[in-house]
Amino acid sequence: SLKTVAKVSALTTALISSVNAFAEPIEIKFSHVVAENTPKGQMALKFKELVEQRLPGEYTVSVFPSSQLFGDNNELAALLLNDVQIVAPSLSKFERYTKKLQIFDLPFLFEDMEAVDKFQQSESGQKLLNSMNRKGIVGLGYLHNGMKQFSANEPLTLPQDANGKKFRIMASDVIAAQFDAVKAIPVKKPFSEVFTLLQTRAIDGQENTWSNIYSMKFYEVQSHITESNHGLLDYMVVTSNTFWKGLPKDKRDIIKKSLDEAIALGNQIAAQKDSEDKQAILDSKRSQLVTLSAEQRQQWVNAMKPVWAKFEDQIGKDMIDAAQQSNK
Ligand code: LMR
Repeated sequence: SLKTVAKVSALTTALISSVNAFAEPIEIKFSHVVAENTPKGQMALKFKELVEQRLPGEYTVSVFPSSQLFGDNNELAALLLNDVQIVAPSLSKFERYTKKLQIFDLPFLFEDMEAVDKFQQSESGQKLLNSMNRKGIVGLGYLHNGMKQFSANEPLTLPQDANGKKFRIMASDVIAAQFDAVKAIPVKKPFSEVFTLLQTRAIDGQENTWSNIYSMKFYEVQSHITESNHGLLDYMVVTSNTFWKGLPKDKRDIIKKSLDEAIALGNQIAAQKDSEDKQAILDSKRSQLVTLSAEQRQQWVNAMKPVWAKFEDQIGKDMIDAAQQSNK
């Protein structure tokens, strides 16, 4: 009867709205490869706190540190499959999706983090956030870590000290070329394997920031660290086009604002950790610091800078010029 139909439809409506009222919050998974006591680890936790505070019951953020969910070899593929919604790989790890970001790996390009920041916030830098849009990857912002240092089981003072030694590198052809330039042997390996590779002496050295050398305890298995500041290790926080465009606009704005604030905090922590973690390593006396004289450092520059020319076509001369402008 009509009455029954009306009853059933009223019941259905009630049921649907109660399902909505008790709907599970939408989970945003954020996976990364570093420890929690790092700029990226802290940024991710701040992002979680802000999103859950501003969209209570609607969204939750689950953070998976230390390659627990996905690692270097699969986090971007997982992002495109929507198995994870936010990742923040180092700028060196996007090579399969764009060659444009190779600019950040050019050795001795940026004089300091201020120059890096200036370039990232410039029109050219902001344009690079969209360099993977056609592949379905959306750049949401840059996050700092810092400048890289070389570590090894012998002091590296001059470029020839690296001859014939094996260095773990991130999956970047620019970084491979940088080590080729000093006749070393670059070995591309995921971050999660570095400690064991160093400990077992399967490789002789690596390059990383003070915060990564500290938080991953690389300094316990490397006798020397050369303060070279020869290159950059920063991140791009990315999401997938599918996930991002699928969010209602008002929620997306809140999530983006939360991310921007979390990044600002992460950048502060990056600057702090760069000096604090260096000091903690020195205090531990497990690893000796190698300080380069201006002449010694110049020899590394001379050996490695020719790498730029090899990648100039892929990166674009205008981009390299713009990056150099930021040193002024
Ligand atoms: C590395 O692989 O050395 C770094 O990219 C790790 C990280 O995310 O800081």
